[in-house]
Amino acid sequence: MNLPKNLPRHIAIIMDGNGRWAAQRKLSRIKGHEKGAQTVRTIVRTCARIGVKELTLYAFSRENWKRPRLEILFLMSLLKKYLVKERAELMKNNIIFKTIGRIDELPAGVRKEIQENIRLTARHTGLTLRLALNYGSRTEIVDAARRLATEVKKNNLKINQISEKKFARCLYDPSMSDPDLLIRTGGNMRVSNFLLWQISYAELWVTPTLWPDFKPEDLSRAIRDYAQRERRFGGL
Ligand code: IPE
Ligand code: IPE
Ligand code: MG
Repeated sequence: MNLPKNLPRHIAIIMDGNGRWAAQRKLSRIKGHEKGAQTVRTIVRTCARIGVKELTLYAFSRENWKRPRLEILFLMSLLKKYLVKERAELMKNNIIFKTIGRIDELPAGVRKEIQENIRLTARHTGLTLRLALNYGSRTEIVDAARRLATEVKKNNLKINQISEKKFARCLYDPSMSDPDLLIRTGGNMRVSNFLLWQISYAELWVTPTLWPDFKPEDLSRAIRDYAQRERRFGGL
């Protein structure tokens, strides 16, 4: 794979287009999600191999609860299976597993496998794979505000001590760095309530390719485009 030297340290991906991939083939949406899970495996493996430090994947949003009950049930069972099935892969590739989102609202069976993966990979030193599950960025910001307010109320924090840094430490994963590159598959030019705080200066890259069709070569194209951009962060 032909890659530039200045790799993005942190890549975030809105994995969209599973349903459309299935519809194009006259299959049920469920088949699209199954194929999408295979793409997750190859992209995680590729990121671990090329030396990306953090990969954050939008897997289930808080808004996704609006979908038909059967699709949600299937997604939860697929997620649970994925968490178990990929365990060996996480171990073999030295991957640290994390999540962001309201995990306490997920089914108990899913929560158990999440905790197990976090525990088993905590001492690893390679890629951090972070799944956004039952995640909504506005909810994350509100949850952070609640935590800060609690600290103020307990007199552990003064209002004028609240800074961007302190605020960021109250987000779901305090160790998370801001994404350098945000990829969205499926062609829609929107962020759908993903990492609103963290993507302030991320480089955006949208491809019409549907997530089940997304290949390591597409990732490599995104990384090469990223490397050619001039990041200015408001300066000159
Ligand atoms: C993304 O694919 C996966 C999830 C949101 C869980 P979609 O299911 O949104 O696929 P489209 O956008 O309908 O094609
Ligand atoms: C974003 O995709 C959420 C995930 C990829 C998990 P959606 O398909 O839910 O987003 P919208 O509805 O097109 O904005
Ligand atoms: Mg979609």
